[in-house]
Amino acid sequence: MLNIAVVGAGYWGPNIIRNFYENPACCLTAVCDQDTDALNRLKEMYGPQFRYETDYSALLEDSQIQAIAVVTNIPSHLPLAKAALEAGKHVFVEKPLAMTAEDCRTLGQLAEKNSKTLMVGHTFVYNPAVRTLKDIVNSGELGDIYYFHSKRVNLGRVQTKFNALWSLAVHDISIVLYLFDELPTEVRAWGNAFITPGVEDVVFLNLTFPSGKLAHMHVSWLDPEKKRQVTLVGSRKMVVYDDVSLDQKIAIYDKGVDKILTDSTYPEYKDFSEFQLLVRSGNVTLPHLNFVEPLKVECQHFIDCATGKIDKPLSGWPEGEAVVRVLEAGQISLEQAGHPVEIVWPTLAKKR
Ligand SMILES: NC(=O)c1ccc[n+]([C@@H]2O[C@H](COP(=O)([O-])OP(=O)(O)OC[C@H]3O[C@@H](n4cnc5c(N)ncnc54)[C@H](O)[C@@H]3O)[C@@H](O)[C@H]2O)c1
Repeated sequence: MLNIAVVGAGYWGPNIIRNFYENPACCLTAVCDQDTDALNRLKEMYGPQFRYETDYSALLEDSQIQAIAVVTNIPSHLPLAKAALEAGKHVFVEKPLAMTAEDCRTLGQLAEKNSKTLMVGHTFVYNPAVRTLKDIVNSGELGDIYYFHSKRVNLGRVQTKFNALWSLAVHDISIVLYLFDELPTEVRAWGNAFITPGVEDVVFLNLTFPSGKLAHMHVSWLDPEKKRQVTLVGSRKMVVYDDVSLDQKIAIYDKGVDKILTDSTYPEYKDFSEFQLLVRSGNVTLPHLNFVEPLKVECQHFIDCATGKIDKPLSGWPEGEAVVRVLEAGQISLEQAGHPVEIVWPTLAKKR
């Protein structure tokens, strides 16, 4: 039984609190927020089921607490997670892991030195639909993957501190790095701040991968329709993942463009003119998904890592650092009106 505490009970914290509270493999011991209104809202729901603290040091000093989940605003991730690791706790941090890749590395190295779990809340890699997508990609059913395209748009929730790149594209970056198992070498981001000066409401992000694959992401909170969609186009098949759909989240399209050899008598003398391009439009398959709340899977994964049942988190600090490095490059490109920014990957950030 892992004793766990959560710091941060604002907009997102209550979701993490509910999942740890409901999980029988851990004991939610305390919740901390410096805002007493946030704590009072929780008290109305949970009563005396756990302790309520306004001072974070009370969590650090409690030797019964073995793990801390940091669900606070992004700039506070580094100091709060660092203090927790230094106090000998396992740490879960909401996405993105920190403000800079260097900060992610500092946390990662501290976790390794103290033999503690450090996991980042890349929620979508714990989403059964994304896991199914990954299985489809790995099975080779799609053939060679050509490109990834995603749309994460809605009207609201308008952010005033962190732009759409850091608030929304962070999810799609974590998805594409997980699916491709490859790190991009070039990033281009283009967008604009229409509502709050300096905070881009709409961002178009392009990633180029060494294998030639492309990724394009459109994120915005200024859009008439709620869309959470990923399209993957492969040489043999294509797949669409619609996160908003209740019963048809994934559709595999047997569609593609086939090259047919017009004269097979002398295959060794093939040149392009001997091929005919044939557009194939076959069946659509809707695989069955056993959908479980991604946060439930994510929280269980953290518990399993902290208690030693799983060796390394699926979204550990190297994955957290990789996502932040792409965000940093995207931010530079955004400030240069979409100018391409190269990413040079340090060896440690590469896949373990
Ligand atoms: N996974 C997702 O889909 C998802 C969605 C939304 C937000 N998030 C992430 O969750 C985190 C929190 O976002 P939010 O929207 O809930 O922010 P928020 O501002 O609504 O809430 C943050 C809370 O942390 C508290 N806090 C900050 N510093 C503190 C400290 N030192 N001690 C005690 N309390 C402190 C604040 O008082 C506030 O109540 C961010 O990292 C964000 O990126 C994740």
